[in-house]
Amino acid sequence: MKRVSTVAALRRELGKLRKNGKTVGLVPTMGALHEGHLTLVRKARAKCDVVVVSVFVNPLQFGPNEDFASYPRRLARDAALLKGCGVDLLFAPTAETFYEPDHQTMIVSPKVQSMYCGQYRPGHFSGALTVVAKLFFAAQPDFAFFGKKDWQQAWLIEKMTRDLNWPIRIVKVPTVRGKDGLALSSRNEYLSEAERAGAPAIRAALVALEKSFRAGERRVALLKRNAERTIEKAGGKIQYLEIASCRTLMPLKALDEEAVVLVAAFFGKTRLIDNIELKNRR
Ligand code: PAJ
Repeated sequence: MKRVSTVAALRRELGKLRKNGKTVGLVPTMGALHEGHLTLVRKARAKCDVVVVSVFVNPLQFGPNEDFASYPRRLARDAALLKGCGVDLLFAPTAETFYEPDHQTMIVSPKVQSMYCGQYRPGHFSGALTVVAKLFFAAQPDFAFFGKKDWQQAWLIEKMTRDLNWPIRIVKVPTVRGKDGLALSSRNEYLSEAERAGAPAIRAALVALEKSFRAGERRVALLKRNAERTIEKAGGKIQYLEIASCRTLMPLKALDEEAVVLVAAFFGKTRLIDNIELKNRR
């Protein structure tokens, strides 16, 4: 595995590897890698000839009161894990080399970027889309891999790619979970023991909602209220819980198309997100 830290070096190395029509897969991450990230990497390894992983804690997607400074950074460990997965290239730039000192240009997706997570994290999705666009242009992958854990993010990235006609296939990978159902996240390590014990209620609430949906329940307000209660009983504080169209991500009043339940809840000071898809299976 080669490790590079500038766009010029990334392009140079990829130029050598890309010969003879080889396909390139890109897995963007912010590091502090866990099984969720590594599952994306293994998918890329299985599908593509050349695998590039980026590790970059992107300042542009953190709000002023968020955890940019304290976000876990452990590049040596990450590099060893990626090497073990057979990654070809690790791109780990610094903010100083990756961004112009007076970076100004932003990707915006005005409708959906300020909903759900975006309502509570202003600028977050614009920052994430902008760094992903930079990574896409730097690596020019054939495939790029994203987790369904960040459902809204994956939707926005897919939309950006389609809206701008970029020849990149977005592969969305199912959420990897702990034994108790909690979605793996680098932020889980902020949880106290008691908070960690309550947090799987988020998954339990979503699974119960989906089960109730499959049994024929279609009252959106009731489905939402029951799920909220389950999470609150376990000590969670709901930030939002919405049922949205998979196609448009607009909130649904009637469950007459494929839908996704999106939730963010606090356990203590830690904000956790999760989701579940509702599909009419006949
Ligand atoms: P990060 O939170 O490091 O996540 C990197 C990728 O791993 C994302 O596509 C995310 O959805 C996926 N992922 C995280 N936890 C997962 C889990 N439990 N199961 C499956 N996939 C999981 O998301 C970001 O970084 C950034 O916003 C980024 C896209 C890199 C742009 O900076």
